[in-house]
Amino acid sequence: MTESEILSLIKKMSLYEKIGQLVCLGGQFFSSDCDTLTGPINNLGIDPKIIPYAGFASNLPLESYRTIQEEKIKNKKIPIMNVCDVIHGYKTMFPIPLSLASSFNMPLIKKCASLWAKEASLCGVSLSFAPMLDLARDPRWGRVMESFGEDPYLGECYAKAYINGMQGNLKAGTVGACVKHFAGYSLPEGGRDYQMSMITERVFNDYYLPPYISGIKAGALMVMSGFNALDFVPTCANQSLIKEYLIKKVKFDGVIISDYNAIHELVNHRVAENDKEACLIAFKNGITVDLMSDCYSNYLEELIKEGKVSEDELDKNVYKVLSLKNKLGIFDSPYRFSLEDEKDLDTKESIEKSYEAAAESMVLLKNDSILPLKKKNRVLFVGPFVKEKGFYGSWSLYKDKNMSSIEKCLKELNYSSYDVIDTPDIFDRSLYPEELFYIQKTASLFDRVVLLIGERQEESGEASSKGNISISSNIVELVKKVYEVNKNTVSVIFGGRPLVLTDIDKESSALLYAFIPGTMGSRALLDILYGKKNPSARLPMSLPYSVGQIPIYYQALPTGRPGYNKIEENKYYSHYIDQPNEPLYSFGCGLSYSNFVYSDLVLSSDKLSKEKPIKVSVKVKNISKIKGKEIILLYIRDHFGSVTRPDKELKGFAKISLSAGEEKEVSFTIQERDLRFSGIDYKKKSEPGKFSIYIEKLEKTFELI
Ligand code: BGC
Repeated sequence: MTESEILSLIKKMSLYEKIGQLVCLGGQFFSSDCDTLTGPINNLGIDPKIIPYAGFASNLPLESYRTIQEEKIKNKKIPIMNVCDVIHGYKTMFPIPLSLASSFNMPLIKKCASLWAKEASLCGVSLSFAPMLDLARDPRWGRVMESFGEDPYLGECYAKAYINGMQGNLKAGTVGACVKHFAGYSLPEGGRDYQMSMITERVFNDYYLPPYISGIKAGALMVMSGFNALDFVPTCANQSLIKEYLIKKVKFDGVIISDYNAIHELVNHRVAENDKEACLIAFKNGITVDLMSDCYSNYLEELIKEGKVSEDELDKNVYKVLSLKNKLGIFDSPYRFSLEDEKDLDTKESIEKSYEAAAESMVLLKNDSILPLKKKNRVLFVGPFVKEKGFYGSWSLYKDKNMSSIEKCLKELNYSSYDVIDTPDIFDRSLYPEELFYIQKTASLFDRVVLLIGERQEESGEASSKGNISISSNIVELVKKVYEVNKNTVSVIFGGRPLVLTDIDKESSALLYAFIPGTMGSRALLDILYGKKNPSARLPMSLPYSVGQIPIYYQALPTGRPGYNKIEENKYYSHYIDQPNEPLYSFGCGLSYSNFVYSDLVLSSDKLSKEKPIKVSVKVKNISKIKGKEIILLYIRDHFGSVTRPDKELKGFAKISLSAGEEKEVSFTIQERDLRFSGIDYKKKSEPGKFSIYIEKLEKTFELI
């Protein structure tokens, strides 16, 4: 459709048809076989008159989608758009985003996103409520599992790769992307979901905003506003954030959707007296579509009749929605490349990639020379995840049937002699003395013990904040008992967030963070443990030493009294008296079975200017006998500024593969714009002076002139 065709269509639409286009309702409103729910439903109170006109349905299964669309076509109505939370897979589940980010492999992330978009698109989905681009620095918040972690630069690269993969050319096998949750949703006070975020302007501009902006620049078709109040103003009502910044300054002219029921929640936030006022506030703020609240459905008509909202304003929003549908080809092809029958979905390529992604996304944190396991090793696998058949994560709408448990994969792969002890009840009770006795006795007879532990997948995700993120004391007891009788233990950690592992770390000779690895997780895990795959991931989010350190991240500012743990000399330093300042494992930690050495860090010049970027090169050599992949992280320190500058900030990374004995040179370009930050006057600019570049233990300095 051309622009003028859209405009003339709008002229012919009734008021209900127009309001309907600004409403997104859950699949439950249209079909009884849709049971995916991500928020309240009973008290929504949506005017039933509007339901047949709704412009969007969320999370509709293919069959219902086709039936509804058929009716629209038959009755010459505007086709509906099926939107869905395709966060890390549709039918085939991939590792959760926090895990995928730890691969630092952007081409891989792009490919994965394209594959889950393909599955979703073939099943009738046109747009996904993804990626979530909320920077995650508080692991108590359950949704860190959906994030890329704590670093804004990693977030910018991740946003681009994810969106390019998912949207592709917007043709067959792709879905539209929706950047969410704009903005600052991820730092709720106390880590409790939906709570207000207190983020200073500078922190917001320099750390929280860049990933969203990168996503919008990458062409994301939609933005979802957050549930949260940011500095006291809920985002649906936050004019300086949405109307002034996102729409006017960033010039985002696509559809902005509220989060689930968030317009109504303005009443709960007590910035609107009732739903009608909430409707007016959100509408005037530029929220185009109301997701799952009664506000637009029930009150827009009244507000138009009262002259508080003009029909012209309504038409502008309808235009945005119809243009979105048009961009995605829904008018030309209302079933939008979907299959007629889901049985025809071929998941082979997704399964292969999901395996590759899982193997590249598990982080080896510690290895006292006991991994990889060898054929001659007799290995005991113990813990509550031995028979787990659902390493999917909270956004797996359709339970994947392809997942094999670790026990099943052990049998199939036949790597070495082994036995398993399943402890499924350990989350609910401590093990009985006779169970512990049996486990100890058995563990003492094996060469290696692999503990499959962590938190259950339902403990992370939306509305799953935790005040205590330590691994359960029942599990710690199990680990201790095993370690008492066998020092060759490997702890494999499953979970959707950085957990506090301080006790586990002491009692394990190796530590592997498996996160929630998806459909092929069991297989990938065993291939890593037995050395068929070489670990090559690094933490995208620090693992705290204790909850008391939160929020904790590497990019912290220095204090006037840096805490060097010099307590014996003088206690007046920035430190805790009961624990270290450092996290247990910091952002960027991650080992390999190979050994890499870094040398020859060279800068093309020791002066950098706006006109003349510098080239940074470094040599990396694999000095082991094992082929492996290495992630090279480039950090920069700005020595002095008009405001305090962090000790170091990530400004570049690369992932390379090196055969045994092979050496490669890797290069990066550093430009003046990479050195910008919000200065004393809040304007983003660089400040001339001395900078250092760090790659591993190497350092070089340059001057910005
Ligand atoms: C979540 C969003 C999600 C939406 C629709 C909300 O509860 O916060 O991330 O896209 O539900 O399912």
